Amino acid sequence: MNIYTWGKGFGGRFLTKICGLFLLWIIAVLAIFQLRTIPLDVNVPHLNSRYLLQKRLDLLTKHADSSTTESIDLEPFVDKSPSLSEDKLVEEIQYRMPNIPIVYWNQNKNKPMGFNNTCALFPSMFDLEYNNIYWQTLRTSNGTFQLLGAYLDVRPNNRLGPTVRILGMIDRIEPTVTTYCQLWFDKRKEPVVVKTFEYKYIWYKKWGNYKQGIYQPYLIACPIPSPFKDKIPQSVSVVEKFCDTSTTNLRVIYNKPEEKKDFAVCVKGLDFLHEDLSVRLVEWIELLNLLGADKIFFYELQVHPNISKVLKHYQKEGKVDVTPINLAGGQPNGPAFQHLYLTKKTNHKRQNEVVPYNDCFYKHMYEYKYIALLDIDEVIMPVEGTSWKGLMDKVVRKGLKNNEEPASYNVRNVYFLDDLLHDHGWFKDIPKYMHMLQHVYRTKNFTKPGQYVKCFHNTERVLVLHNHFPLACLGGACRSYAIETSDAQMHHYRADCVKTLSKACNDFKKNSVMDTTVWKFKDPLIQRATTTLRTLGYFGTGKKLDEVR
Ligand SMILES: *[C@@H]1O[C@H](CO)[C@@H](O)[C@H](O)[C@H]1NC(C)=O
Ligand SMILES: *[C@@H]1O[C@H](CO)[C@@H](O)[C@H](O)[C@H]1NC(C)=O
Ligand SMILES: *[C@@H]1O[C@H](CO)[C@@H](O)[C@H](O)[C@H]1NC(C)=O
Ligand SMILES: *[C@@H]1O[C@H](CO)[C@@H](O)[C@H](O)[C@H]1NC(C)=O
Repeated sequence: MNIYTWGKGFGGRFLTKICGLFLLWIIAVLAIFQLRTIPLDVNVPHLNSRYLLQKRLDLLTKHADSSTTESIDLEPFVDKSPSLSEDKLVEEIQYRMPNIPIVYWNQNKNKPMGFNNTCALFPSMFDLEYNNIYWQTLRTSNGTFQLLGAYLDVRPNNRLGPTVRILGMIDRIEPTVTTYCQLWFDKRKEPVVVKTFEYKYIWYKKWGNYKQGIYQPYLIACPIPSPFKDKIPQSVSVVEKFCDTSTTNLRVIYNKPEEKKDFAVCVKGLDFLHEDLSVRLVEWIELLNLLGADKIFFYELQVHPNISKVLKHYQKEGKVDVTPINLAGGQPNGPAFQHLYLTKKTNHKRQNEVVPYNDCFYKHMYEYKYIALLDIDEVIMPVEGTSWKGLMDKVVRKGLKNNEEPASYNVRNVYFLDDLLHDHGWFKDIPKYMHMLQHVYRTKNFTKPGQYVKCFHNTERVLVLHNHFPLACLGGACRSYAIETSDAQMHHYRADCVKTLSKACNDFKKNSVMDTTVWKFKDPLIQRATTTLRTLGYFGTGKKLDEVR
């Protein structure tokens, strides 16, 4: 379901789990095989739809490309440091942020300190108010607003007419305070002032954190009054009283090219300071690019230097765009400390992450027909053909209702778990560092319809987005078309199932199948990823950067 939990599996916890739960199973499987490498056409047990897949396999293996075999056993220079224990993480935070008593607090966090419940309590390190960079603050008589972006919405389906939408967080549920937008236009001395029309909540209360005082994600709407409807505001300030000098002023973003391209992907704030997922990221970016993603828009909280290197490289190539972001208001943003906070406060993490998703959508809704929100362990994979365009040409026809397109097209989730693979060895014509190409065993069952799905979002219809589905749409209810599993599947490459599925997961694992759909990209994917890794110096100094350029 998300990139944050994905990573945990690589550390000690994963090993413990393997040892504890699956040792016997693994021994059994190994006893059958006793092989490190299996030929591609070997029969594999518990391979339920083997025959069907075998046919595809035979076709594919004929194309094995001998020119790539030299790199099969190459090991890229990734950072293999084990993941940090919590105590070690706290130690590191103390070193990087010497001004907070984090070690002292961590030692005492389970003992309430202070006179009593209501007098001079020792505050949680997570509740201190820290400084911030990208968010603008408006303090009102009833609630504080943290604003990140403003966008002009002139989509035909928008019943309000041209509207400035402002994305941010407010520390209130169902805010009641009245506010105004002061809209600033080119060549006009006075602002156009309009009452804010609504605070659209980007969350469901049943998901938790439904409390006053916690920052909640909102999209604020300010419809442009009629004499100015055809003008483009330059910026907007939010105020409580008409005449206030605002503490906020956001540029109104409006990028409208002549024509829309097809697909973009948005990725929420990357939080991988210690985990070096750079090599996997290379494979993922190249695969999405092959599928037809014109650009991948990343948000970056804190990442490992190797990940930065990969992102910079693709940014230069125009395949990727990276926006630095941090957490709203006074939330922890210090190095490594931010990660600890997001790990400990899952609801806060989720409420925070919808903001970059919606920022990404509103910035690019005029540039693309469809926007997908994916984590870096997820791929929307067409079953037939090799492009998202081909898939959508087929699916759009099926999804029409009264000649109208749905707001989103959702794809069913299926797990390719790490431990469904290595018991079977490595595929010998694929380099070991190609994680997805090496992991072709998946759970037989998809997760339930609607659960953990990912969508292509129709940029003409969506109003607010959440990770899995739109939460509100222009022109009424959000209709989502469920793409059939015979048309596409959402490949989810994880160490293990999400925690909430752990029971079903064991059943899943007993029923695995080999699914080599991804192999239709084998040759170009190996070639592209290997070239990039070489360019970036992952295979030593054999080829230096300047030689390659
Ligand atoms: C809490 O401690 C303060 C300071 O000692 C004291 O004034 C106050 O009465 C105490 N309150 C309660 C409810 O015990
Ligand atoms: C402050 O706002 C909350 C809603 O977020 C509301 O319930 C409460 O009545 C308001 N307080 C005042 C004093 O207006
Ligand atoms: C998998 O699917 C089969 C048949 O569709 C069903 O009987 C079984 O309960 C499913 N298993 C899980 C773990 O959902
Ligand atoms: C990745 O990080 C490790 C540890 O910092 C470093 O030794 C290695 O050279 C890095 N790889 C590349 C390609 O820069």
